[in-house]
Amino acid sequence: MSEFWNWWIIIITVVNILGCWILLIATRKMKGSDAENETTGHIYDGIEEYNNPLPKWWLNMFNICLVFSVIYLILYPGMGKFAGVLGWTQQGQHAEEVEHAKKTYAPLFEKYAATPITELSKIKQATEMGKRIFVNTCFGCHGSDARGNPGYPDLTDKDWLYGGTPSNIEQSIINGRNGVMPGFAATLSAEQVDGLVQYVGKLSGHQVNESKAAIGKIAFDQQCFVCHGNDGKGNQAMGAPNLTDNIWLYGGSSTTIAETIRKGRNGAMPAHSELLGKEKIHLVTAYVYSLSNK
Ligand code: HEC
Ligand code: HEC
Repeated sequence: MSEFWNWWIIIITVVNILGCWILLIATRKMKGSDAENETTGHIYDGIEEYNNPLPKWWLNMFNICLVFSVIYLILYPGMGKFAGVLGWTQQGQHAEEVEHAKKTYAPLFEKYAATPITELSKIKQATEMGKRIFVNTCFGCHGSDARGNPGYPDLTDKDWLYGGTPSNIEQSIINGRNGVMPGFAATLSAEQVDGLVQYVGKLSGHQVNESKAAIGKIAFDQQCFVCHGNDGKGNQAMGAPNLTDNIWLYGGSSTTIAETIRKGRNGAMPAHSELLGKEKIHLVTAYVYSLSNK
């Protein structure tokens, strides 16, 4: 901070405090005019305004505020560059809190890091720590209740793109995941896409046009089975969703299915290994695991 701003702040602060003080003294002096019923001369609809001094308790509140501000400015930073007698700083307080948190949580993190996820998911304190990490880091995409959004999977059900074992979940979080569903607008005719929409709907038990679905099945067995499997039940090794369970990542309406097939989809789950570190990932994994394994 330059000298100019230093003095600028000091002078404005001092002038303000002195100004308030002088104003208080000035209003108190009005008490001298002891005419209790003196009015200001203002009359509104026959109601007159008395010229009474401020009530005592009110004045005292102001006085206390003034004294407080002076004491505060002596103890804490506020007067330009003056650091305050206590030497308090924001950074100092933050560092202290971080240090405190480390001391409190380090042994817990260590203990929990050595506990298997299946056990950890039953320890309330651990899942609560995991939940806090989840709410801070993951809720923007998966929702604060982990139920997901279109394109962002629901983590509370038993339907997994990449598998729901503790190590599957942990891998999803550590390394991230990239769903690659190619677009077929260039490869397939409109009739084939339409047929596939009917066939994919049929796999999930929707009412469909059977003759169109038959055309779709032929295309499916040529183009889609590699990833989604002959029976449409998906493949967790590549994150190809099960198309037979009526649980949808992007949506099960005809329009959405057609869009998925024409344009493709590329859901991306970012890697979190650097952001969170092993121990936190272990805890958040236990939390996610607990959601579908009650
Ligand atoms: C930027 C958005 C984003 C953030 C942040 C994010 N995720 Fe994801 N996550 C996704 C997407 C998108 C997918 C699906 C990837 C795909 O479509 O292949 C996913 C997939 C997953 C999966 C695999 C689900 C399955 O069905 O196999 C898990 C587990 C998961 N996320 C957990 C987490 C956790 C825990 C966090 C926080 C530490 C987190 N995610 C943060 C977007 C996100
Ligand atoms: C290269 C592998 C691959 C091929 C081939 C493929 N898919 Fe997919 N499909 C995926 C993946 C991976 C996803 C998930 C995308 C994501 O996570 O963002 C997906 C998602 C979908 C979805 C969205 C499901 C939902 O829950 O919203 C539909 C529908 C779908 N595919 C249908 C098809 C059809 C029909 C074909 C054939 C024309 C096909 N896929 C071919 C890999 C593939």
